[in-house]
Amino acid sequence: SAAYDFHGTHQAGITTPAQDRLHFAAFDVSDSLDRAGLVGLLADWTDAAARLTQGLEVEEGGAVGGSDHAPPADTGEALGLPAAGLTITFGFGPTLFEDAAGVDRFGIAARRPPALQALPRFQGDALKAEWTGGDLCIQACADDPQVAVHAIRNLSRIAFGRASLRWSQLGFGRTSSTSTSQSTPRNLFGFKDGTANVKAEDGEALAEHVWVDAADEPAWLAGGSYLVARKIRMVIENWDRVQLGEQEQLVGRSKGEGAPLSGGTEFAEPDFEATGATGAPLMAATSHVRLAHAASNGGVRMLRRGYNFVDGNDQLGRLDAGLFFLSFQRSPEQFVTVQRSLASDGLNEYLKHVGSAIFAVPGGIRPGEHVGQPLFA
Ligand code: HEM
Repeated sequence: SAAYDFHGTHQAGITTPAQDRLHFAAFDVSDSLDRAGLVGLLADWTDAAARLTQGLEVEEGGAVGGSDHAPPADTGEALGLPAAGLTITFGFGPTLFEDAAGVDRFGIAARRPPALQALPRFQGDALKAEWTGGDLCIQACADDPQVAVHAIRNLSRIAFGRASLRWSQLGFGRTSSTSTSQSTPRNLFGFKDGTANVKAEDGEALAEHVWVDAADEPAWLAGGSYLVARKIRMVIENWDRVQLGEQEQLVGRSKGEGAPLSGGTEFAEPDFEATGATGAPLMAATSHVRLAHAASNGGVRMLRRGYNFVDGNDQLGRLDAGLFFLSFQRSPEQFVTVQRSLASDGLNEYLKHVGSAIFAVPGGIRPGEHVGQPLFA
């Protein structure tokens, strides 16, 4: 079972080969916390995350090695389990820099990345406050759900009195490959998802589309990225009544192999000029892949790292299911551009965006430092 380095140039959990399971959590920092308190929380989280990702308890002897007369420091449900590829990725939301009332609680408003703003409203948005926003986020990914949940549970516990859970999401099947070594998984529409993703092996694309450059503003975010989270409900009961040929037209790829409808195999570049017998483009004008592709968006790309979710069912007996979309990009503008292009996406009839959040993800953490240290330096 894999254990990934916690320290490095970039935070783990972005180009790391996408693990099978997700527990994502957004937090609000307590109004009683000052700047030193926030730094203390980030330092405590960093220490715990460095251990958890190596398959260790939050602290030495944390689960059963302490006093019989005190609650254990570690909750214990990961005792005996390996690291399971756990990565823990931290992000800072717009409201950390300036809260809803415009208050600069931690003296960092002047260092706010200008691009770190709440996302604009998009056509069709049906956002619920209960799955939207957050001062801080933690993305925990692992190949064992118990390991991912243990991480979020213990980090929430460490934050007690300093930051509280605002919303969280479990995900159970990665919907993207982030490495050419991985096979392409499928989303709940049954289609391969992640084929044309930016992959870990493509250093040039990562530098251009994913990592904040040292020359970008602000300097403290160098080596970081922007994380967009969108909770997208999929109306799968309606989708399941759509004919196969129509499903493929809506996506722009074949359902079996995931090849573009313009021809070739899975990894062939789509040909947007190609037309069929009727003269209509083989990659339909309203197909998801056409509208999401760099060619329709001024060359913009992103690294997608989402997960399927099923949160039980609704009162109508329909599965409360969908895609917990996560993408990493050098600037939020990339997501905004693509999401606006998707306004005419034929898939929208079967989708509802119900949650949304954006975070600046600081660069990698050096041993002895805490996440986001350059922001507070
Ligand atoms: C590609 C499904 C939402 C951006 C794809 C593909 C599928 C898919 C099946 C083709 C395979 C691939 O290259 O990965 C879905 C579903 C969604 C959804 C079911 C909603 C539940 C979004 C959103 C965005 C997005 C919200 C960004 C705003 C992209 C991009 C591509 C893509 C950039 C690659 C296009 C290319 O370069 O060929 N998606 N997607 N998708 N999607 Fe989505």
